[in-house]
Amino acid sequence: MNKITIDVSKCVGCGKCVKDCVASALYIENGRAKLREGCIECGHCFAVCPQGAVDMPGYDKSGCVGVTPMTAVDSDTLLQAIKSRRTIRQFKKIPVEPEKTAKILEAGRYAPTGANSQNVAFTVLADKKDEFERECVKIFRAGVKVGSKFSAALKNTDITDTFFFKGAPLVIVVSGHDSVNATLASAYMEITANSMGLGVLYSGFFCACTRLNPKIRAKLGLPKGHKVVTCMIIGYPDVEYARIPPRKPLKFKTI
Ligand SMILES: Cc1cc2nc3c(=O)[nH]c(=O)nc-3n(C[C@H](O)[C@H](O)[C@H](O)COP(=O)(O)O)c2cc1C
Repeated sequence: MNKITIDVSKCVGCGKCVKDCVASALYIENGRAKLREGCIECGHCFAVCPQGAVDMPGYDKSGCVGVTPMTAVDSDTLLQAIKSRRTIRQFKKIPVEPEKTAKILEAGRYAPTGANSQNVAFTVLADKKDEFERECVKIFRAGVKVGSKFSAALKNTDITDTFFFKGAPLVIVVSGHDSVNATLASAYMEITANSMGLGVLYSGFFCACTRLNPKIRAKLGLPKGHKVVTCMIIGYPDVEYARIPPRKPLKFKTI
């Protein structure tokens, strides 16, 4: 099956797809676009074609309508919202609506991936959430017992029964072959969750448990070769912040 198809009855040979193809996989012949090898299925030709002449068989095209540019969002408001984002560790005991979960996952699906690999997977912990938390708590309690002999921070750490997921209703584990792709997906998902009034905690501790314990990793049933990159704890915040906290001075140089 072709990765993309071009409807020659619609193509007018304008060359917009050729100009925007990252892989130089398109060319014009006899006034029509043609595909050669090298296509990474990024969909730029599909998106740019004024005639709608490009199709991508086998892809989900349900959301492929119009475009809303980022300029629709005021940049000052966006930056203030980014700065006002906080890691949330106190959650209300109310569920996240399935439509909101779907939007968060959709944001992850649309994040950029190197060479358009789209090799990021999302595991929503539902029925097994409490089971995962119980096992992680067990592992951490044992580890902290040993570690607290060497670290004051660990000595003060109380590993409660809800230490990992903080009573939040939704947990999404983001995995991939590549940390960068999965991290970017997570950031897109977090901002989308925030825009719907939801708070997010990245649980580095849960990720550590999956590295320490092969059984926990196996239980997640990740795609072959995937590692857990982030664990997103999501729910409605039960805390309000009055101001933005300070940061270290900006470090940057122009060379
Ligand atoms: C990769 C990553 C892992 C994190 N892991 C944890 C964690 O396991 N537990 C926790 O309470 N906070 C965790 N955090 C939250 C950080 O502590 C938090 O981002 C930082 O203190 C700054 O606070 P802010 O996010 O509210 O600006 C994590 C953050 C990141 C980016």
